[in-house]
Amino acid sequence: MGFMENKNTLDNIVALCKRRGIIYPNSEIYGGLGGFYDYGPVGVEMLNNLKRYWWKNMVDKRENIVGIDGTIITHPKVWKASGHVENFGDEVVECKGCHQRFRPEDIEDKCPNCGKKEFTEPRSYNLLFQTEVGVIEGSKVKAYLRGEACQNIYLNFKNVVDSTRQQIPFGIAQIGKAFRNEVTPGRFTFRSREFEQWDLQFFVHPDDMGKYFEYWKEERMKFYKELYRKHENLRFYQHPKDKLAFYAKDAYDIEYLTPWGWAENEGIHWRCDYDLTQHMKFSGTDLTYTDPITNEKYIPNIVETSGGVGRTFLYLLLDAYEEEDLGEGNIRTVLKIHKDIAAYRAAIFPLVGNKEEIVNKAREVFNLLSDSYKVVWDGRGNIGKRYRYQDEIGTPYCITIDYETLENGTVTVRDRDTMKQERVKIEDLDEIIG
Ligand code: GAP
Repeated sequence: MGFMENKNTLDNIVALCKRRGIIYPNSEIYGGLGGFYDYGPVGVEMLNNLKRYWWKNMVDKRENIVGIDGTIITHPKVWKASGHVENFGDEVVECKGCHQRFRPEDIEDKCPNCGKKEFTEPRSYNLLFQTEVGVIEGSKVKAYLRGEACQNIYLNFKNVVDSTRQQIPFGIAQIGKAFRNEVTPGRFTFRSREFEQWDLQFFVHPDDMGKYFEYWKEERMKFYKELYRKHENLRFYQHPKDKLAFYAKDAYDIEYLTPWGWAENEGIHWRCDYDLTQHMKFSGTDLTYTDPITNEKYIPNIVETSGGVGRTFLYLLLDAYEEEDLGEGNIRTVLKIHKDIAAYRAAIFPLVGNKEEIVNKAREVFNLLSDSYKVVWDGRGNIGKRYRYQDEIGTPYCITIDYETLENGTVTVRDRDTMKQERVKIEDLDEIIG
């Protein structure tokens, strides 16, 4: 069996996602809307698993982190305080031929659309989406869809301190949508206009910043190493000091090596006391923390870890996608994705769909396993085709119920990665696929 180097991995993944119900272009029947995507029946299971995986690692397993779920629209002053209204921008240039707009770094010497070589001077462009709150014309208030999910965490810092048993150092975690009217959305979901972020804001005493910054850098890299197969495709990138936001002391990205080069997966940011100070200034509310033991009063400093959920999902597909040459022109497409992220832990196949005893026995196996795992039923077509389908969506195990099952209570378990088949007792299945 050989592995094929494929130059069109992203195109093949886009096609696979559509073919197998992982990701669809949004509003496709209307011609699509650039930078917006929907997750299909298989994709939504994977996405939920991925978010649960993060939540388990970041919230459930830690005594000093709690979660929130904040709104997409907040008080408009939030975005003035955060600096987004003033300077959440990209530079854009406009092609003088076709009038399409690009980020300067996305063009080489000519327009990617029409080939003309003349552009306007770069202008700054705000990425926030605007909307209105209220019903009466004239009294509507301009508001923004959140440009980053983390602001809700700062807004609720005092609520969480007042309503939980947490004391600094502690963190608030959230998974939620963010919206950016990107100039050049593209590379599938890599740069979208609507996407999800998984954020942790970890609140610490200013003297402890260095220690916790290092701690979270390592923890987050460990997280991605457990998720992806190809560790050589992960690295840290330290932001140059002269490119840091004025309040930031340090920042690293965890990057993944994509077919278009190293690209950001998550940022780990040393934010000092900037966020709480800004919200104190703009809201007039005191967000100072009082240490319950020493009575010291201070504005907490923040270590932020902020990653893209959709982007991680895309990198997972890149990391897992294989086309294997089985010989004689037989190519197997398989997603060797982490088994906790796969949409289904196992597929249940009755060998033949019209033999009642076999179907009933297969239903028993389905019901037995579905208490603990997400499993999927497939009684259509020959077993070889069913294997191929499950390989393409990354199902780690296929379980076939046949005539022998009726005689001795054993089934065939086929492993996605090795393609090996093994005859096992039904009562041992839980241990095998667990
Ligand atoms: N609160 C900090 C913050 O928002 P960011 O680096 O702008 O930092 C964090 O975003 C993560 O969100 C990025 O590492 C990336 O994974 C994801 N992200 C940012 N813009 C995105 C976009 N247009 N489409 C998909 N994911 C995006």
